[in-house]
Amino acid sequence: MQEAIRLSNVHYKTEDIHILKGITGVINEGEITTFVGPSGAGKTTLLKLLNGLLSPTTGKIEINGKEISQYEPTELRKLVGIALQSAPMVDGDVFDNLSLPLRLQNSSLAEQEAISILNVVGLGDDQLHQNVRDLSGGQRQKVSIARTLVNRPKVLLLDEITASLDQVSQKEINELIQRVSKKYGTTIVWITHNLKQALTVGTYTWFLMEGQLLEAGKSEEIESSRNEKVQAFLRGDLE
Ligand SMILES: Nc1ncnc2c1ncn2[C@@H]1O[C@H](COP(=O)(O)OP(=O)(O)OP(=O)(O)O)[C@@H](O)[C@H]1O
Ligand SMILES: [Mg+2]
Repeated sequence: MQEAIRLSNVHYKTEDIHILKGITGVINEGEITTFVGPSGAGKTTLLKLLNGLLSPTTGKIEINGKEISQYEPTELRKLVGIALQSAPMVDGDVFDNLSLPLRLQNSSLAEQEAISILNVVGLGDDQLHQNVRDLSGGQRQKVSIARTLVNRPKVLLLDEITASLDQVSQKEINELIQRVSKKYGTTIVWITHNLKQALTVGTYTWFLMEGQLLEAGKSEEIESSRNEKVQAFLRGDLE
């Protein structure tokens, strides 16, 4: 198994608080790894460190064997895509949003390419010129994921992207992420509050709490964790 991301004793502190406390672990290439844990555990902070939005206070993060700080910012943006729960969009139609990453790089996106990416995320050709104001929550999330795919990222980071969606849309997004993972061999890190989702969609699961990585392993093994805090979370006793 090839490793995509390696974290070595990563700490992240602000002036007031010590958010991440010595995270060490490996994320395998081409696999879906989910991050679960109570609110405030540090999941989003960790994701932001993985795409260079934040830098570790101490410790090291390597992607494909190279430390994140050694990448050119533009190179890192292409290598690591991120989609957020809020799925921020620019005014305009779906095509304007899909072509945004390339326009920022002074390049352009062919309509045919845009359509093929839309099809990968389960949207139709007729949606290419739909105004993003008129999209449903699920469709918006699909466009947000499609936009990250334009750069063919090797790593895709997803932060609670299905949290505000209904069951049907959640299921569609689960399937689409699995499809992307298979089709492109993308390494996916997915934060979710939904443990069932973490266990069914992800091959590996990291359990974070109070800035520490309490458990990391195959998703199905998390349920038999001997860690009391993990068990309390599984029972629903922690929020
Ligand atoms: N820029 C910041 N300055 C100060 N504190 C912060 C900052 N960002 C996050 N925190 C704090 O760090 C802790 C971890 O936050 P983080 O957003 O990473 O948690 P999370 O696991 O993603 O939680 P949730 O499940 O609610 O999204 C929280 O206590 C949060 O209040
Ligand atoms: Mg979060």
